[in-house]
Amino acid sequence: MSTINEAAQKVSNIFTAKFDQTETVVVRSPGRVNIIGEHTDYNEGFVLPAAIDKAIYVVAAKRNDTAIHLYSVDFDETFETSLAAIKPSRDWKTYILGVVDQLIKAGYPIGGFSLVLDGDVPIGAGLSSSAAVECATVFALNELFDLQIDRMSMVKIAQKAEQTYSGVMVGIMDMFASMFGKKDHVIKLDCRSLEYEYKPFKLKGYKAVLLNTNVKHTLSSSEYNTRRKQCEQGVAWVKEHHSNVNSLRDVSLEMLQQHVEQKDEVIFRRCKYVVEEIQRLLAACDDLDRNDIAALGAKMYETHYGLSKLYEVSCKELDYLVDAVKENPGVLGARMMGGGFGGCTINLVKDEAIDELVEQLSVSYKENMNLELSAYIATIENGTEVMKLAEYSK
Ligand code: GLA
Repeated sequence: MSTINEAAQKVSNIFTAKFDQTETVVVRSPGRVNIIGEHTDYNEGFVLPAAIDKAIYVVAAKRNDTAIHLYSVDFDETFETSLAAIKPSRDWKTYILGVVDQLIKAGYPIGGFSLVLDGDVPIGAGLSSSAAVECATVFALNELFDLQIDRMSMVKIAQKAEQTYSGVMVGIMDMFASMFGKKDHVIKLDCRSLEYEYKPFKLKGYKAVLLNTNVKHTLSSSEYNTRRKQCEQGVAWVKEHHSNVNSLRDVSLEMLQQHVEQKDEVIFRRCKYVVEEIQRLLAACDDLDRNDIAALGAKMYETHYGLSKLYEVSCKELDYLVDAVKENPGVLGARMMGGGFGGCTINLVKDEAIDELVEQLSVSYKENMNLELSAYIATIENGTEVMKLAEYSK
């Protein structure tokens, strides 16, 4: 349990002003970055994410009835429903209600509750604000109703909630990173066995800088599901000849050349990217162990190339930002991060070079893309946790 922080205190005060209830639980659940290993989670590969300082906060309290009362600070919007009447919506509520739906379906004894939602994870920036909302919600309800759900099961509930209530067949990475994050560490997660290992992430003299394109193209959900299907098709074609193959994790480049390339060139490219990315991640973990940040950075550029040209989930704004730093000696690596079609690039930048880079890029990005650029330095923090508020807040 972490002690008070300002953001948790603020949302708790808002809760008190809104709802006449005092037995509250306050939960913080962070956004995430991913160093390398993109679109590999649903292919049973590896990912290398970390939880960051930007987080979602929820404050929740039990009610005596079966009503659900929600309030979003960001949208200044209230919503009321009941356990029996919940359904998906197209906005912030859907991530909370999706979790409630999963808990009910799994037979957990939950009752009505009031909940206030706040946070500073930028929406649509590819930092997984929705996963953070789901993780915060399931963690808070678990505490409130003493459901005794372990963290990994909460991750799976959150993932299922996102898949069913937003319709995007997301993998496990975002919820896992939010729930299992550890300060100053990245997590190497094997998405097949769900075994994981924390690795210290101390970039001596460098920082992970996020550059937000400030676009989210509408393509992102439908194309995500399409990519998943294309990978499954590739696996099915290989499986016709190798019955022990169950995912792209089991597939080699040679198998793709033999059984996929002739059939469909697009599916071949999609699968090739994933197979290479799984290998790249393993090599990148060795770089990290040897503290060879330059080698890690070079692999990030390769990942971007693959995501842009083979997997085709980039966009002109992301490509612009990666191209713009490539020749900069202060930058060791850069790539688009997350699902794609907008959001952030992640860049490994020398401490002394950060200010100038952001300044210059802000101007050129505006000139070339006609959009504002935002930059954040990602600091790596703990995962989902209950926050203890100071006594004076009561
Ligand atoms: C989104 C999904 C994740 C993962 C990434 C791409 O963030 O939610 O499960 O697939 O895209 O790596």
